[in-house]
Amino acid sequence: MRDADAAPGPLLVETEGLTKHYAAGEGTVAALAGVDVAIPPGAFVAAMGPSGSGKSTFLNLIGCLDRPTGGSYRLMGEEVARLSPDRLAEIRSRRLGFVFQSFNLLPRADALANVELPMIYRGVRRRQRRERAAAMLAAVGLGERLHHRPNQLSGGQQQRVAIARALVNGPDLLLADEPTGALDTRTGLEIMALFQALNRSGVAILMVTHDAEVARFAARVLRFRDGRLVGDRAQVPADAAAALAALPAAPAEAA
Ligand SMILES: Nc1ncnc2c1ncn2[C@@H]1O[C@H](COP(=O)(O)OP(=O)(O)O)[C@@H](O)[C@H]1O
Ligand SMILES: [Mg+2]
Repeated sequence: MRDADAAPGPLLVETEGLTKHYAAGEGTVAALAGVDVAIPPGAFVAAMGPSGSGKSTFLNLIGCLDRPTGGSYRLMGEEVARLSPDRLAEIRSRRLGFVFQSFNLLPRADALANVELPMIYRGVRRRQRRERAAAMLAAVGLGERLHHRPNQLSGGQQQRVAIARALVNGPDLLLADEPTGALDTRTGLEIMALFQALNRSGVAILMVTHDAEVARFAARVLRFRDGRLVGDRAQVPADAAAALAALPAAPAEAA
């Protein structure tokens, strides 16, 4: 898959025959039916497909939120398919960051405390946590909102807090399941522009979306159908910042 003169080192993600069966009545349903995929570090990949095609199952397996029932999965060269739930939790905390459609922030905690949380699990000291969380919030454009709680932030701002939280431990891979699904067009484009900026700075992204308008900002598109990978193609990504600039002017903020 990689060119001969590419930098040596492990693939970010490499699966062979990745399979997930769920019990259903008397039998089982194959949510994922043998997926082979190789993703290098620094990639920006969109996973597409109709509802029920296995996209979320794939993302959850790649995110070590769930274990496959068959096949192999190497993350940065380490076989993780058969690890215990405790070891998977450790790998999630060290290597992976997650962003969801519904943000999943702690409602009573301010932006700073939400972003500090993953560092508490990693045993980072309080002062360093505060500094890193504040810097990460500034990096996603929320330097002036450190002490706002989720219900005091717009949807797009809440998703930025979630992105800062996902990145604060320096993951190898950012996983996003329908990250713009709860946002209007403009705000969705802002999040895609942020993803593209993060990706340019070296963060690898795997994003599930059913929306072709969103997938066009990725550099590679995987297509799922009935639990199988039926398409895998590189593309020249559209520029989200340019798409944002081309929108008609935003309505004036209510006074
Ligand atoms: N926990 C579960 N138990 C049983 N079946 C499941 C479970 N999760 C997903 N499935 C089934 O697996 C298939 C793929 O689901 P999913 O990965 O959520 O698809 P997508 O995200 O593409 O909509 C669907 O047929 C779904 O009903
Ligand atoms: Mg899904």
